[in-house]
Amino acid sequence: MKRYEGRGRDSLIPLLQEVQDADGHISRKRVGEIAETLRLPASKIYGVATFYNQFRFKALGKHHIQVCRGTACHVKGSAALLEALESELGIKAGDTAKDGVFSLEVVACIGACGLAPVISVDGEFHAKITPDDVPGILNSYREKDAASDGDANND
Ligand code: FES
Repeated sequence: MKRYEGRGRDSLIPLLQEVQDADGHISRKRVGEIAETLRLPASKIYGVATFYNQFRFKALGKHHIQVCRGTACHVKGSAALLEALESELGIKAGDTAKDGVFSLEVVACIGACGLAPVISVDGEFHAKITPDDVPGILNSYREKDAASDGDANND
């Protein structure tokens, strides 16, 4: 923050990016600090940050899901995948589930068009999937978590 002291509006986006890189999201507390550092009203920070969908106000879930909405994935039905994920998780893209297990994000082409439609969970690709595959994929992560919690309890 110190480097940005009093630099004003032009430094807002780079500072938001640095904060998000460091914290994973932009908390209310950080908005206050940014406002003080740049000498801008907090409403201005929110106004700019909400305009760009790269900025998040909630922490990512334990498992972060990215749904590719690039052209190849779109043609192969990624809109239906997104809908299925939103409905299974009870959240919208850009949000984190209340229990903190999953967060959901829409991204542009993730460079795996041959696998379209593709989603990534924690960086692991799930290729050529349909909405019917969504519950099974989510459950596989829930089961892995349950298994590792069980291991931790047995230690
Ligand atoms: S469009 Fe989805 S990976 Fe390229």
